[in-house]
Amino acid sequence: MTATQTNLALQGGKPVVDRSRWPTWPPRLPGLSDAVRQVIQEDQWGVRSSTIEAFEGAFARTHDAEYGLAMANGTMALLAALKATGIGPGDEVIIPAYTFVATATAVLQAGAQPVFADIDPQTFNLDPEDVHTRITPKTKAIMPVHIGGNPADLTAFMKLADQHDLVIIEDAAQAPGAIYNGRKVGAQGNAGGFSFQSSKNITSGEGGILLTNDRQIYERAFEVYNCGRTVSGPWYEHVSPGLNLRISAFQAAVLLHQLDHLEEWAATREANGQYLEEQLDNIPGITCARRYPATTRNAYHLLIFTYDSEAFDGLPKARFLEALSAEGVVATEGYRPLYEMPFLRPYLHEGADQDTGLPVTEHACQNGVWIRQFELLAERSMMDGIAEAIRKVQKHAASLLETSV
Ligand SMILES: Cc1ncc(COP(=O)(O)O)c(C=O)c1O
Repeated sequence: MTATQTNLALQGGKPVVDRSRWPTWPPRLPGLSDAVRQVIQEDQWGVRSSTIEAFEGAFARTHDAEYGLAMANGTMALLAALKATGIGPGDEVIIPAYTFVATATAVLQAGAQPVFADIDPQTFNLDPEDVHTRITPKTKAIMPVHIGGNPADLTAFMKLADQHDLVIIEDAAQAPGAIYNGRKVGAQGNAGGFSFQSSKNITSGEGGILLTNDRQIYERAFEVYNCGRTVSGPWYEHVSPGLNLRISAFQAAVLLHQLDHLEEWAATREANGQYLEEQLDNIPGITCARRYPATTRNAYHLLIFTYDSEAFDGLPKARFLEALSAEGVVATEGYRPLYEMPFLRPYLHEGADQDTGLPVTEHACQNGVWIRQFELLAERSMMDGIAEAIRKVQKHAASLLETSV
C-alpha cells in the first residue's frame, strides 16, 4: 500500500517549527566564564569556599528556607534528608512510582523500604488518599515528588503527617521556584532536596541542595554530608560515619550566577506553560495535567499532558512523538513505572497490585507526554508552533497508520 500523501514532515513536508529557534540548554549566560574564573583565583575550591556558602544562603533565602546544604547531586540531598530525619532500617517511606529512580534509591540507600502509592490522575502527583491506605505502623515518612515542577498536595500530606506522626521529605528535584500556599516548595515539609543535574531548571551539570527550616535536621544533615563532622566541631573530629557529599566551588559559582535568572525564567515558564496548556486543552485527545488550587506557580520542569490515541485515529504514542519530532517539536514519552525495574519489584506492596501495578501510574506511563522546561523559555510564537504541530499530526494521523510511508 502506498501512503496517502500529506504535508507531514515525516512524509517529506515542511516542518511546522524551525528547530533552530529553540533555546539551548544549559544556558550560555554572559558573565558565566568570569564567575568561574573568579573561583580559580580563590584559595578554596571546595569545602569552606565562600562561593558555596553564598550559593547555599541565596538559594535557601529564595526558597523560604533557613538552612541550605549544597551537595554533589539531588539523590544525595534526598539521602541526607532521610538520614537527618532519622529514617533507616525497618522504616517504610511512601513514594510515588511515577518519578525518577533516585526517589526510590535514596530510600533504599538510607536502609529503609520504599512503599509505592498511586498518583492523582489529574495532577500526576502522589495521591494523598492512596497514601493514606498504605500507612502502616512501620511508616515513618512520606516523600511527595513535585512532579515536573508541579507542587504536590502538601496540605494533605502535612495533615497525614500530623495524624500519623510522620516526616515529610519533599523531592523538589524538579521544582526550583514553584510556589504553593504562597511559599516556595522544598522546605515546607521537614526537609527537601533539589537537583541541579544537566536537564534541571538551573544546572551546574551535576549538583543538588538540601533545604530545611529545622536546626536539628540541618545539623544532622551536615554530619551526613561532611564526613561525620559537626557544624562547629574541630576538623578532625568525626562523630558519625558521614559521607562526603559536598559540591565544588565551581559548581556553586555556576549556580549562583544562574540563580539571578531564576525568577525571570520561572515567570516565563509559568506564563508560557499556562498559555500552552490553554491551547493544548482545546485539542481533542490532549489533556494537560492540572495543578492544586494552592499552587500559584508551577516550576514547569516538564509540561505534562495525556495523549489519547483514539482521538488520533488510533495512532500509537510512539508514532505520534516521532511525527511531532519531525515537525520540529521534541516531546518525550516519560517514565516507566518504577516497580517494573527488577530491583524495585519486591517493594510493590502486597495484594493485587503485584499483577496489575498501580492503575493510575500505569495509565500515566502509557499515555503521558512531556515538553521540557527549556522549550518553555522560547518566544510565545513557539508555543503556538507546538499546538499547531500537534493539530497537524492529528489531522493526518490516519496516514501514519498505513504500512509504507
Ligand atoms: C524527581 C527526581 N528526584 C531525584 C532526582 C535526583 O537528582 P540527581 O540526578 O541530581 O541525583 C531527580 C533528577 O535527576 C529527579 O528528577
